[in-house]
Amino acid sequence: MSKTYNIAAIPGDGIGVDITDAASEVLNTLASSHGGFSFKFTTFDWSSKAYLERGWYMPPDWEVQLKKHDAIYFGAVGWPDVPDHISLWSMILPIRNSMNQYVNVRPTRVLKGVTAPLSQIKANPKELDWIIIRENSEGEYAGQGGTTHAHGPNAIATEVAIFTRVGIERIMRFAFETAKSRPRRKLTMVTKSNAQRHGMVLWDKVFYEVAKEYEGVVEFDKMLVDAMTVRMVNKPESMDTIVATNLHADILSDLAAALAGSIGIAPSSNLDPTRSCPSMFEPIHGSAPDIAGEGIANPIGAFWSAAEMVRWVGQGSLDKTADQLMEAIENVSERGIRTRDMGGQASTKEVTDAVCKEIEAIV
Ligand code: NAI
Ligand code: MG
Repeated sequence: MSKTYNIAAIPGDGIGVDITDAASEVLNTLASSHGGFSFKFTTFDWSSKAYLERGWYMPPDWEVQLKKHDAIYFGAVGWPDVPDHISLWSMILPIRNSMNQYVNVRPTRVLKGVTAPLSQIKANPKELDWIIIRENSEGEYAGQGGTTHAHGPNAIATEVAIFTRVGIERIMRFAFETAKSRPRRKLTMVTKSNAQRHGMVLWDKVFYEVAKEYEGVVEFDKMLVDAMTVRMVNKPESMDTIVATNLHADILSDLAAALAGSIGIAPSSNLDPTRSCPSMFEPIHGSAPDIAGEGIANPIGAFWSAAEMVRWVGQGSLDKTADQLMEAIENVSERGIRTRDMGGQASTKEVTDAVCKEIEAIV
């Protein structure tokens, strides 16, 4: 019996639409080549464009609607006509919070055919092979704070970072388990506990508590976030799994993507490890208004995110299929079919068609 996975697709804005279309094409090709499963996509028109027309992003029953699905595939949200804090807080952040997606997994490595900008990594691409585990539910993006006297010269605004023992402990456990599952068994924890003396100190404390359970199993160390940016550039080979707060990991993962060749390649998985809600898969980039509508967005980050979605919904049964999708992506970029951000000339459609053809040959 063929299994059908119900996917809620939210293309959103700008290149989010192009890359979601491309990802669904690739996923459908993967499923039909495999023959043992299929995807049923339900597309939601939740976007900044819709918001400007009708005044809302998501309808009141959005949680009920999303929960009917096995996973969510997300493009990007944000458009110059809507303040970014409105678009982000109208869609992506409520979904992550409400769907219990407290882990955001961001793998980075230099794919075949991609040229890394730094000479050291270019010479030996295997030096960069990281998984960044981003705390996805609290920290600096908890939404606490307020503005007083907003329109006068005495305006006051606070942005309160929230760190809970429960939130820290569960992300540390996930990070240690991830590190343990990888060949190098190595975890680096990032904070800023010299200047931020409350929440970040609690992070350090809980990290060392959980680390006790992994002594002799996982090698671990701690970095301050500023020094971490230097280490990522100068000693990429010295790290494997990295765990950091919502804000720090957001920034570090863009740096990681750039070091690996382009922001257009990088994937992310917003996971509810308890599997009580659907998890959400999306490239880490935004809606890229500067290139939207040109048909030149790099779809690789979207395809890699799709591969992670296949792995997640398959619960072990589709790992090989997800690996085959990655192989197809890498074969295509190695052959030189690349978008402009990767130094090529290909369009989104050309890369997508080539990946689909490659899937048909491999799977
Ligand atoms: P961005 O990631 O959209 O773009 C940054 C730069 O990278 C641009 O020059 C863009 O052309 C390029 N780029 C990004 N993805 C690419 C791809 N797949 N192929 C080729 N080039 C690519 O970040 P930016 O400009 O800061 O944000 C634009 C909008 O997206 C804003 O409204 C922002 O709030 C939103 N945003 C949404 C995110 C989400 O939905 N998860 C994440 C990041 C930003
Ligand atoms: Mg980001």
